[in-house]
Amino acid sequence: MSNVIAVVNHKGGSGKTTTAINLAAGLIRYSDVTSSCLLIDMDPHGCATSTLLGKLDGDPPARSVFDVLRRAITPHDGITTTVYDEEIHLLPANPSLESMAKTQINDRLEKVVSALAPNYGWIIIDTPPNLGVLTQNALVAANYVLVPTPCTGLAIPALRQLTTMISRIKERQNTRLQIIGVLLTLKDGRTPLLKNVRRELGQIFGKQDIFKTIITNNIKIEEAPAAFQSIFAYDSGCLGASLYRDWIKKEFLRRHAKLEKELLEQREAAAALQLEALQGEYTSEE
Ligand SMILES: Nc1ncnc2c1ncn2[C@@H]1O[C@H](COP(=O)(O)OP(=O)(O)OP(=O)(O)O)[C@@H](O)[C@H]1O
Ligand SMILES: [Mg+2]
Repeated sequence: MSNVIAVVNHKGGSGKTTTAINLAAGLIRYSDVTSSCLLIDMDPHGCATSTLLGKLDGDPPARSVFDVLRRAITPHDGITTTVYDEEIHLLPANPSLESMAKTQINDRLEKVVSALAPNYGWIIIDTPPNLGVLTQNALVAANYVLVPTPCTGLAIPALRQLTTMISRIKERQNTRLQIIGVLLTLKDGRTPLLKNVRRELGQIFGKQDIFKTIITNNIKIEEAPAAFQSIFAYDSGCLGASLYRDWIKKEFLRRHAKLEKELLEQREAAAALQLEALQGEYTSEE
């Protein structure tokens, strides 16, 4: 099961939550993989939690991912259904998650995800705007990192810190981790994309990792969470829905399938080598 996607960018307001919740809804609609999805909210502010549960204010959820991480309840007991989409479940955040951020424990979520993965076709993890322990937990637990970033030149150089962290976690704790891609978001529709933006991103991540689709600013994308709906349910005909739909169908799912195929080929090649070595040992013993 390698469909665990961490949505990460330590810059605040870069479109992480918007992308995470619309990706979840899009995968339910457009992916061939079993149509169930779990969203794990690792941001103590709980914006994804509010939207999916249909509560903009009021008490935070009584049971949250924090209770699961501190092992007060089982992973299954932390999960709740959503008003957002009946096929999307949620492991909600609440503000007490902040106290986990003060610890050094960055491999707890991985164990939770392993326990829950057999029940879901996709697991999407939304993260807070920093590279602290909560984001690290997401990177240790995920197979793929998705990086939404605003198109402003200023937001881009800081992403080097993120690639350094991804490399470190890949080296030490999670060899499966791969970048699925960088999604440009929040673009002002009236101005052309600055030429240096794609170039700089290509230098940091590799040219092939930058998705071609750009999610422009769209009022419907901004309005949909307050109606507790995805952009597809809120207004499937609007520009924002068509941008997210095209990105998911034509780029995200294709890239995911390609990376999965490569992974399978690598595993098969490694297994063949192992078999060859084993046969060699038998032959030399004869
Ligand atoms: N394409 C878009 N068009 C218009 N508004 C958008 C778009 N994408 C995101 N927004 C709005 O921009 C704000 C920031 O987006 P979002 O909350 O997704 O970012 P974030 O990276 O999760 O922020 P944080 O780092 O604070 O968690 C939100 O108010 C959201 O509704
Ligand atoms: Mg957010």
